[in-house]
Amino acid sequence: MALQLRTAFSNYNKGIALAAAATASTTLALFQYKSSNTKCDDDILHSPSYPWEHLGLVSSYDCAALRRGFQVYRQVCATCHSIQRVHYRELVGVTHTAAELVAMASEVDVMDGPNDEGEMFERPGKLSDPLPKPYQNEEQGRLANGGALPPDLSLMVKARHSGQDYLFSLLTGYCDPPAGKSMLPGLYYNPYFPGGAIAMPPPLNDDGVEYEDGTPATISQQARDVVQFLNWCAEPEADARKKDALTYMLVLGFTAVMTGYYKRFRWSTFKTRSISYVK
Ligand code: HEC
Repeated sequence: MALQLRTAFSNYNKGIALAAAATASTTLALFQYKSSNTKCDDDILHSPSYPWEHLGLVSSYDCAALRRGFQVYRQVCATCHSIQRVHYRELVGVTHTAAELVAMASEVDVMDGPNDEGEMFERPGKLSDPLPKPYQNEEQGRLANGGALPPDLSLMVKARHSGQDYLFSLLTGYCDPPAGKSMLPGLYYNPYFPGGAIAMPPPLNDDGVEYEDGTPATISQQARDVVQFLNWCAEPEADARKKDALTYMLVLGFTAVMTGYYKRFRWSTFKTRSISYVK
């Protein structure tokens, strides 16, 4: 009887172990699955998958890249795009020091008010202000860009399929249209943009910005940096979240081991007893 009980329990444990292994391998397989095939009837070239270092389970953002990316945004993209969900104060300790950001914010004139006389007034920007918008309203943005509105980039990485890979491919993917493809005036050929014709002129040029840390400002370097910065804008809590998750996993792991040990301890009397029937 004892033997039967023991066999039943060890089979039960084996069943759990098998189920756990199957779940783990399925999850791993799903993680590795990337749908980067291009089908014949697609009107878009799918972006390849790039090895972004900050996406690792225990890796963090590269602050030097974020600082360079913010520089690319300010000097290139900010002419047409806003990042209205990010405030100067949120960049403190991420891309620049508080003093640098105070100086940077104060260069911008911000409309505030009304004052005691009911008038709106202009004042120098403060840390609590959002990053400035290039256009006052949507109509102005459309007018300046041939009818196409440059979208806000705060959550752009989350708003597009394969976010960072797509953005990197879009910024580096401008090329001549294939033979037979005619482009309307004001549109540029980019195979990664749905339909292939985008109203954004190629924004990046080699040495278009001059990095203060001396990094060569190639197109792909600028694209990589600005995409990392835009990823931070969409997910500024990623580093803290990974750190918390690691702590939780360690604590949960410890609890699981202790629970297992405790279960064996409590059951040991049942598992080791022998029952004999005496007439
Ligand atoms: C000269 C103005 C201009 C500049 C500079 C510019 N953009 Fe754009 N951008 C546009 C316009 C206009 C659109 C809308 C395109 C469309 O809908 O055809 C756009 C669209 C986009 C999109 C959305 C594409 C999509 O899938 O809908 C992204 C992402 C983007 N820009 C990123 C950037 C980045 C990053 C920079 C800086 C490196 C930049 N842009 C610089 C004008 C600009």
